[in-house]
Amino acid sequence: MIALALSVARSMHRILVTGATGNVGRRVLARLLSENVTVRALVRTATAELPPRVEVAAGDLADPAGLEDPLRDVDAVFLVWPFLTADGADQVVKAIAHRARRLVYLSSAGVADDARRQGDPINQMHADLERLIAETGVAATVLRADTIASNARGWIGQVRAGDVVRGPDIAGTAVVHEDDIAEVAARVLTDDRHAGGTHVLTGPQVLSRADQVRLLGEALERPLRFQPVPAEEARRQMLADGRPPALVEALLAATARPRSELTTDTVERITGAPARGFAQWAREHAGEFR
Ligand SMILES: NC(=O)c1ccc[n+]([C@@H]2O[C@H](COP(=O)([O-])OP(=O)(O)OC[C@H]3O[C@@H](n4cnc5c(N)ncnc54)[C@H](OP(=O)(O)O)[C@@H]3O)[C@@H](O)[C@H]2O)c1
Repeated sequence: MIALALSVARSMHRILVTGATGNVGRRVLARLLSENVTVRALVRTATAELPPRVEVAAGDLADPAGLEDPLRDVDAVFLVWPFLTADGADQVVKAIAHRARRLVYLSSAGVADDARRQGDPINQMHADLERLIAETGVAATVLRADTIASNARGWIGQVRAGDVVRGPDIAGTAVVHEDDIAEVAARVLTDDRHAGGTHVLTGPQVLSRADQVRLLGEALERPLRFQPVPAEEARRQMLADGRPPALVEALLAATARPRSELTTDTVERITGAPARGFAQWAREHAGEFR
């Protein structure tokens, strides 16, 4: 890990990755490093484990004033917004637009362009972020990701304990592999031909929660099945698991989303390789569920 040296000369291309310890950001970081891009990671804790060659900048997206140093000499930013509302986002987005030439924002495939208000708080937050970014005039690319495959990690405890996964039944969507999101993000961050616009990223197939659990079972060679639970029981369980009440309500609101039949070819168009399916994700991550 290279400590952030603010005196460092401006390089041709330095990218600040937010969410760099998370499922998607970690992979964006790795892709960019493999392409020999100078990468800086925004982290909240100095002890965050990051690959060598990464510049580490301490900062918090909830503290826009503290972003000045992390944004110094940065050409482009990969932005995730890990909150439930857009509160405070205007200052963060303005700070990025002031410093960086390019911004790639990880949004949600659930955002509806024609809606005055989005159907649930999470999609509303993403729609608000997209609007704030557009208002700054920075050259931005929005990646609207479908349900990320790594959300299935939330089932690890239940799968280790038995063959039934219980949870709120969120309608089917074309679950997208986080490696595909990261590869697309790396391309649009580094290749001007893909810059700009809004891209909807999906996996190859619409899957229900039950489909995902079955595919996980196939990877584990166990007869796993999904059992939907009513909202009240899901609420009790999530609160007992220690999740913050606002997050619990936002997740429950997402259960009202209609099934999406949408699949796109964006991943293949941008990366040159077909989108990975959830069965592949399950095989790659089976060890975590054992
Ligand atoms: N899950 C989905 O299905 C889905 C679908 C579409 C879009 N998205 C968007 O994708 C984003 C990234 O997803 P993910 O799975 O990679 O998330 P994740 O694994 O939960 O990672 C969240 C990242 O954000 C960082 N973070 C949290 N609070 C922060 C703060 N106050 N300041 C700076 N960094 C902070 C975390 O860092 P620490 O290590 O410090 O906690 C972590 O690196 C989500 O936030 C969401 O907006 C998600």
